[in-house]
Amino acid sequence: MDSQKVGASDIILTGDRTTGPLHLGHYVGSLKNRVVLQDVCPQFLLLADAQALTDNMGNYVKVRDNVLQVALDYLAVGIDPAKSTIFIQSLVPELSELSSYYLNLVTVARLERNPTIKDEIKLRGFERDIPAGFLTYPAAQAADITAFKATVVPVGADQVPMIEQTNEIVRRFNNSVDADILVECRALVPEDGARLPGIDGKAKMSKSMGNALSLGASEDDIRQAVKMMFTDPNHLRVADPGQVEGNVVFTYLDAFDPDRTAVEELKAHYRRGGLGDMVIKRRLEDILQTLLAPIRARREEFAKDPAQVMAILKAGTQKAREAAGRTLSEVKGAMGINYF
Ligand code: TRP
Repeated sequence: MDSQKVGASDIILTGDRTTGPLHLGHYVGSLKNRVVLQDVCPQFLLLADAQALTDNMGNYVKVRDNVLQVALDYLAVGIDPAKSTIFIQSLVPELSELSSYYLNLVTVARLERNPTIKDEIKLRGFERDIPAGFLTYPAAQAADITAFKATVVPVGADQVPMIEQTNEIVRRFNNSVDADILVECRALVPEDGARLPGIDGKAKMSKSMGNALSLGASEDDIRQAVKMMFTDPNHLRVADPGQVEGNVVFTYLDAFDPDRTAVEELKAHYRRGGLGDMVIKRRLEDILQTLLAPIRARREEFAKDPAQVMAILKAGTQKAREAAGRTLSEVKGAMGINYF
């Protein structure tokens, strides 16, 4: 992820659906970078509970309960509420209001053509029984972004079509009122190396696939995860030559081990043969234990006082409402529908 491209005049907005606690994949792909970016420019972080409800309305308990869990993850990794504005999407009604106007700037056909929506519909088996709120969430996401005049939106590669659709809405709106009210944004997508596979070697780490290591993982969870980690299935004896490509232990060492030279030497040794999985796993376990111990400790500390965390979210939400309210007034003002 090229944080260099972000400057003091930028405004960042990004967020997470609150469907479960965050994991190591989120840490590598986005959370780590947010900790850096909060020192560069204003950063808004959205707990996207309303968006999570678009395909989880029957599971609102899960969505609601994970607002606190995701907030704990943010705070645990070092996102500082004095620098980043963390807020709850459903408590900013200005976003729904903006979204209701944006819905008139997109067609159903265009929503159905959105590649992310298309994939997600297939994945969830919605076919034609797609909740209307789900089909239209790109317009709501455009509201999330534009309400804060965000210029930079750090997201996974799968979210790029959302940014394109947002910018279409921005241009349409600005054109229709013949004024530059809304601001176009750009996606900040992590580099390939920042995508962490699951511990089973599957392309994506995901809680629902059961191959994730959560940020609150205990020492024992970490030990178990490394023990079960996918290596080279053909590397049966220590003396055998082993494969490094697709070997999750090496992928993780690449992501987390600061000693590049040592990792390259280990790779060469593994390829030659004579290096056992136990040795590389022990090294990785040490590194992960060291990385996650302070995160777990901070998470537990904050978790002891949920009221304090909710107070942080309340203050952030208040600030977010003010910012979104200003944009909403401008939007309505541009159309002259601020009647009195
Ligand atoms: N759609 C994002 C996800 O699936 C979450 C999200 C909601 C978001 N609103 C956003 C991301 C606005 C960036 C900007 O994780």
